[in-house]
Amino acid sequence: MDAIKGRRILSGIQPSGILHIGNYFGAIRQHIQLQKDNECYYFVANYHAMTSSTDAEKLREHSMMVAIDYLALGFDPEEAVLFMQSDVPEVAELAWMLSTLTPMGLLERGHSYKDKVAKGIPANHGLFAYPVLMAADILIYDAELVPVGKDQKQHLEMTRDIAEKFNLAYGETLVIPEELILPEVAVVPGVDGQKMSKSYDNTIEMFTSKKALKKKVMSIVTDSTPLEEPKDPDNSVIVDIYKLFATKEEVEEMRQKFLAGGYGYGHGKKELFERIYEYFEPHRQRREELEQNMDYVEGVLRKGAEKARAKATEVMDRARDNVGLLRFL
Ligand code: ADP
Ligand code: TRP
Repeated sequence: MDAIKGRRILSGIQPSGILHIGNYFGAIRQHIQLQKDNECYYFVANYHAMTSSTDAEKLREHSMMVAIDYLALGFDPEEAVLFMQSDVPEVAELAWMLSTLTPMGLLERGHSYKDKVAKGIPANHGLFAYPVLMAADILIYDAELVPVGKDQKQHLEMTRDIAEKFNLAYGETLVIPEELILPEVAVVPGVDGQKMSKSYDNTIEMFTSKKALKKKVMSIVTDSTPLEEPKDPDNSVIVDIYKLFATKEEVEEMRQKFLAGGYGYGHGKKELFERIYEYFEPHRQRREELEQNMDYVEGVLRKGAEKARAKATEVMDRARDNVGLLRFL
């Protein structure tokens, strides 16, 4: 991550729920690391969140929570840009332009669409066209590098495909972005052993109360090997999550305790809970301060929106001219 310097970087995160440690280790932590040596744009993908929920109050609440969490976790508004996707409504205009060049077959092959429909999310047009809006998000800021988790790889491929079609049809207009598949962590498992996800009700949230955090960690599903017997540390959600918070030696120590027997899953969970709580403690304090200072948070988002919109206007003017839209304003 340190080797990445001087690039224009962009990423978005959906405000579709409360952020969890999978989001942190899979995305936010790296976003924050990149801010120092690069030109970074991060946004709250509130238009995208509308594809899977129609609860306006929740959308507002979760959108602010994402912004506050970024700030609490170390996002620095002096170094990088943080904004709401909908503060740059031109992105919907670019999405329209791109949709005129997006083959149906490309979207029909979308894994994410198929997965979401299989989970019961209504198959609306917005959900189907989600990758086109995501392409617009990326292309409207001339982003060069997009740090995302593995699950977003196909969306980046689609973005490149669509941008290439645009440039072929209308001449060089859009910068072709690269993905940066975040390498440091594998997929963080949830308390049920599946991928941790807001939509699976299996998350460990960063900023819940101590009591709620403990309850969540204690709910990690395990087999019923009795306390005194040896346990397999290599297929253990407890150990896998502990790895994110502990040194190699500490992980090895926990592994050995499981292997030796006499160390129950409950013991492991308790150690894990304490680690998670300590790790986020300074950020929790910062978060509480921010919640008492919403004017500051709103100011950050306003300034971010202005910067993002200035860049988007530049790219949109280029796109409008190249496709032949007349402009009288
Ligand atoms: P969720 O599945 O909880 O709705 P999102 O799809 O909004 O999460 O993901 C936001 C970011 O966090 C993405 O970059 C994604 O790759 C990353 N991410 C989400 N869940 C995990 C996980 N369990 N492990 C690693 N990264 C994750
Ligand atoms: N689809 C991404 C996710 O679910 C969120 C997102 C929307 C995004 N637009 C983006 C990520 C643009 C990177 C770039 O995680």
